[in-house]
Amino acid sequence: MFSLNSEDGLDSVFICRADKDDIGEIIDLSARLAVYSVSDVRKADYSGLAERRREDLAGLYDIIYDDSMLVFAAKGPDGRVLGDIIVKLDNIEMMTGKAEGWLIDLSLEPDFWGSGIAGRLLEAAEDEARKRGMAYLGLTVTTANARAVNFYYKMGYIKERIQMFKELN
Ligand SMILES: CC(C)(COP(=O)(O)OP(=O)(O)OC[C@H]1O[C@@H](n2cnc3c(N)ncnc32)[C@H](O)[C@@H]1OP(=O)(O)O)[C@@H](O)C(=O)NCCC(=O)NCCS
Repeated sequence: MFSLNSEDGLDSVFICRADKDDIGEIIDLSARLAVYSVSDVRKADYSGLAERRREDLAGLYDIIYDDSMLVFAAKGPDGRVLGDIIVKLDNIEMMTGKAEGWLIDLSLEPDFWGSGIAGRLLEAAEDEARKRGMAYLGLTVTTANARAVNFYYKMGYIKERIQMFKELN
């Protein structure tokens, strides 16, 4: 439970560049919220999902300060991580040949959904990506994650491609 809630104290939530000490909390949060990105069309056992997400992000300890990485955290007044955004900046968009940042993670503690903090995180990442020469910021989002989809639309993102799969057994 958080000492800060979404009714008061939001002004004291600040967005900053994350450092190594924040990574444990960021990975915990992202692993806990990975379930929201589960597809509704793959009939699978998702019991290992959080652990796989942890493994996926474990490399962050080694690359967090690389020029190709952008990691911001939203923190409460006690320094606790309430949300995070991770963007990779080393991608060239094939069709246009222009630099495109790619969103790896955006997670916000559910107690703070609807507070505007997620928008502040995304805008902070967009501003920095723009300064670093990115022409675009791209992402994938699971169709079933309607809340996230609507959030990105609200933030000005546009649907571009359809990702497909077929079950082979
Ligand atoms: C995605 C996330 C960061 C967005 O932050 P948020 O604070 O929830 O976003 P907001 O409340 O500002 O925007 C969500 C929008 O979806 C709408 N929404 C809420 N519940 C919804 C639902 N069940 N279905 C569809 N839309 C919904 C909201 O009304 C809001 O739109 P509005 O502001 O125009 O009313 C946050 O929900 C989160 O951490 N989710 C879990 C992790 C995740 O899915 N990350 C994205 C992976 S790509």
